[in-house]
Amino acid sequence: MKLILNDCLSFADKLEFENVLKKAEQSNLLLKSKTGAGSDYLGWLELPLKISAEEIKYIKKIAKQIQNQSDVLVVIGIGGSYLGARAAIEALTDNINKKGTEIIYVGNNISGRYVESILEYLKNKNYSLNVISKSGTTTEPAIAFRIFKEALFKKYKQEAKERIYITTDKEKGSLRAIARKEGYTSFEIPSDVGGRYSVLTACGLLPIAVAGIDIDQMLEGAKYAYANSEEIAIQYAAARNLMYNKNKTIEIMVNYDPSLHFFTEWWKQLYGESEGKDNKGIFPAGVDNTTDLHSMGQYIQEGIRNIFETVIYIKNDMSTICIPDTKDDSDGLDYIKNKSLKYVNEMAMQGTKLAHVKGNVPVISIEIDKMDAFNYGQLVYFFEKACGISGYVLGVNPFNQPGVEAYKKSMFRLLGKPGY
Ligand code: PA5
Repeated sequence: MKLILNDCLSFADKLEFENVLKKAEQSNLLLKSKTGAGSDYLGWLELPLKISAEEIKYIKKIAKQIQNQSDVLVVIGIGGSYLGARAAIEALTDNINKKGTEIIYVGNNISGRYVESILEYLKNKNYSLNVISKSGTTTEPAIAFRIFKEALFKKYKQEAKERIYITTDKEKGSLRAIARKEGYTSFEIPSDVGGRYSVLTACGLLPIAVAGIDIDQMLEGAKYAYANSEEIAIQYAAARNLMYNKNKTIEIMVNYDPSLHFFTEWWKQLYGESEGKDNKGIFPAGVDNTTDLHSMGQYIQEGIRNIFETVIYIKNDMSTICIPDTKDDSDGLDYIKNKSLKYVNEMAMQGTKLAHVKGNVPVISIEIDKMDAFNYGQLVYFFEKACGISGYVLGVNPFNQPGVEAYKKSMFRLLGKPGY
């Protein structure tokens, strides 16, 4: 994994970067000494080293059981309790040629239309439920659990019990109480790991393992990043704060492979929920290129100049397909005949970068050799670490989310929830 900053640092003086880099180094020490704001929620920092062999073994055992029992695993969760798993599964499996157990996500919205169509789809499938909620009280997954549990019991009668898997806090919350009372198989989310930092706990690892991804390799990658990516995490945190100080208040994560769409969604949540508070924060946005070059590309090139980009580029996507050499050149593509799509995509990435830098959009680049579980684990840990550092540079608590309560209160009031 490589961090390239020259197309970003060229927008600032050397001294400006050195100053913010110093701040990022201090923020890293604050994070590591666990003396900063939100230090009760730093369990994720050593997670790749601390997760026990028994826990990994148990996750793999239950994943196998789910694979044998079901065609579909329905993951019920929202925010940090679902995006980490979905991002990894979309990035690391073939989304067109689905093999093995399919993973479907519910409880991340309240759309009746969505729920009905999933219930219809499941009618002729064997399925299990993995309900994931740290607090065990979040409304969206709670509603979905009630609906899908009813359907599951209708279909499987008492056997349904063996098809419900709960991932929640060790002690707290109604989901833990339900798991105990009903005797459902359950997993623990450590109390010192917040939702958006929880992908490397059972919260993410169980569905990821069910999807057939090598979780040992993913944890190895995270362990590698723990040991080797501190410096680049500090640099990335410093560079994005440098941009913020220059009124570049929107960071757009850019990918050139549709399988990374949900990685961007995960990143948006991680950074948006961690930093957007106290009337501060970089607004995290995302585009999937080259698709979005034909929509958002216009704004990025010529709209308000308050944007910088972070491009994630997979150097070798392992594809070999080339532009065919046809008899005539009626489509005008002969200038790239026999060139691989991989090459053309790379030129699109490089060309876009040049155009954006010229258009006053600073670009940070992150390159990985190939997309596999190891590299994915590295990326996850790198971005989590950089987020903690960056939040401290900004002067906020990156591990709370007081703002999400406001919509809940006003929704509960409208719905007539007792006590609101
Ligand atoms: O990062 C977070 O803490 C949030 O995004 C939560 O993950 C999200 O609100 C879901 O919460 P819970 O897992 O308690 O249902």
